[in-house]
Amino acid sequence: MKPSCRFLISKKNPVFFKHHHSLTSNLSGNQFSFDKNKQFLACPFRNLGFRTIFNEAQKSFCVPNSSLGQSRLTTRDGRGVSVVASCASQIREFSTSVETRVNDKNFERIYVQNGINVKPLVVERIDKDENVLGAEESRLGVLVDDGESVNRENLDGGLGVKIISPKREESDMEKEAWKLLNNAVVMYCGSPVGTVAANDPGDKMPLNYDQVFIRDFVPSALAFLLRGEGEIVKNFLLHTLQLQSWEKTVDCYSPGQGLMPASFKVRTVPLDDDKFEEVLDPDFGESAIGRVAPVDSGLWWIILLRAYGKLTGDYALQERVDVQTGIKLILNLCLADGFDMFPSLLVTDGSCMIDRRMGIHGHPLEIQALFYSALRSSREMLVVNDGSKNLVRAVNNRLSALSFHIREYYWVDMKKINEIYRYKTEEYSTEATNKFNIYPEQIPSWLMDWVPEEGGYLIGNLQPAHMDFRFFTLGNLWSVVSSLGTPKQNEAILNLIEAKWDDLVGNMPLKICYPALESEDWRIITGSDPKNTPWSYHNGGSWPTLLWQFTLACMKMGRMELAQKAVALAEKRLHADHWPEYYDTRTGKFIGKQARLYQTWTVAGFLTSKVLLENPERASLLFWDEDYELLEICVCGLSSSGRKRCSRFAAKSQILV
Ligand code: GLC
Repeated sequence: MKPSCRFLISKKNPVFFKHHHSLTSNLSGNQFSFDKNKQFLACPFRNLGFRTIFNEAQKSFCVPNSSLGQSRLTTRDGRGVSVVASCASQIREFSTSVETRVNDKNFERIYVQNGINVKPLVVERIDKDENVLGAEESRLGVLVDDGESVNRENLDGGLGVKIISPKREESDMEKEAWKLLNNAVVMYCGSPVGTVAANDPGDKMPLNYDQVFIRDFVPSALAFLLRGEGEIVKNFLLHTLQLQSWEKTVDCYSPGQGLMPASFKVRTVPLDDDKFEEVLDPDFGESAIGRVAPVDSGLWWIILLRAYGKLTGDYALQERVDVQTGIKLILNLCLADGFDMFPSLLVTDGSCMIDRRMGIHGHPLEIQALFYSALRSSREMLVVNDGSKNLVRAVNNRLSALSFHIREYYWVDMKKINEIYRYKTEEYSTEATNKFNIYPEQIPSWLMDWVPEEGGYLIGNLQPAHMDFRFFTLGNLWSVVSSLGTPKQNEAILNLIEAKWDDLVGNMPLKICYPALESEDWRIITGSDPKNTPWSYHNGGSWPTLLWQFTLACMKMGRMELAQKAVALAEKRLHADHWPEYYDTRTGKFIGKQARLYQTWTVAGFLTSKVLLENPERASLLFWDEDYELLEICVCGLSSSGRKRCSRFAAKSQILV
């Protein structure tokens, strides 16, 4: 018996639709096959899930409730509560406008053109043959474990994508990696929807490592896409999109609508009479250790959506009304007015790959780089019409302001450090050189000797009177990939990694950050975190998954040899060490203290790097070149207002190249 399929609903308070009143009142009543009032009042939860509709072949298995609009909500403890449940999806399906609650002066409202009677949210199965998916050893048809990596053309996911065969015989290690990746695939109602974070058979306490993490799935998705397998990625994008609109609460407080979950799990819930159903259960941080906000999830989702289009040629997905709305909701959340003084995104600690307290609250580089590339992706994907033109304008303005801000204020090299060393402080004026009132004493002693003549990097964070000089690898690499840095800065970042190879790569690519917080810094900044002891885990540990971002950055900058060197290093140990999550010590010599083995993004990062290196043209679809048009936009309207001092204008000549 195949299970039926639902999203798992957590118990929420009943005022959910308060926020959406204006939204729902825009709906034409007769478009609904259910009673709106009854629906809102009857629903004992804040959270209403979407009803997933499958094609005819699947319907009988996955959607047992035949009455339209009726669905069965399932609480976390498995109790079924019969209520009308497709309201949220109906809203997305039929709404003509999704009113924004934020930044109205900029966007007024997100307008979904032709909203009435648009194609409903349908997760279509791409494959034609259910048996292909049922086969254990080759769930996606990507794995070829007999060494014959050819003849995959029938497994093209129906998108007309030619499966790319490796130009050579794959090594045993690569074959093992493909097999592990396939074994990590999570099925939902008979379709692949993601990969678990780790598949460690010896792990008795998997915590949430048995879930599909949004950020962890990105390298898996790219590995599949680069091999021409699009179905799992399309399913992932659509299912996570459905999860996005769920209300989620932490202590009766709901974070903003549009947030993507950090992870989700497929749960099997027993029904009456020996039947069971599958439910998707998202975690928006309400169960996560430290209740961290998954700010990066939505940004990665947008980046992956673009990559999916580029690598499959299936641009129809990003043009869908529901997908366009998903993009807009994420952007809305990111572009909302707050108390921020800077164009960079203000977040709490632990809101990205480093999802524990590590002193990265404020404006951490990783989030800014992902934000920048999500904005650039959106700029490419948003359908421009009357309803979206304000949003597009806001995206352009933010891109321009953000790149200026990061290029100008986050950048350090020898020259800049010397400037900071001689900074005057307490400057009260719009003309201040030391705008953030940085006390030169903050320059850490390790930095003076560390930065090489020919290199430089973007610092980890910038706040009033505070520069976090630590080198954060993902933020720097993604700045290269997305062209957040200038061409010269991007080159200098790779120069620095090359010059500081022993510190940043050592025995295993790549250190998540450098240097580690030690002694009092560790005690105060991490709160004495025993998992983040010096040179372990997030605190200076080495994460092999970062290999794919490094490979992409190197390929973009024409430094293939650097990427090859790092891949070769990883190749020496990953298989023998059973694909650990991370390594410890200053040089990445030991498998991490609490590292999971068979960590999926370690496996996928390795495979993606290998395939990228062999397919430079495909790799080039995944990075961004300098956009000169963006550099021309001066958001402060210098010329029209006649304002004298625009630091951006003054510095423009320096940041263009
Ligand atoms: C850890 C990592 C996080 C990752 C998760 C699943 O929490 O810090 O970045 O997404 O594990 O692998």
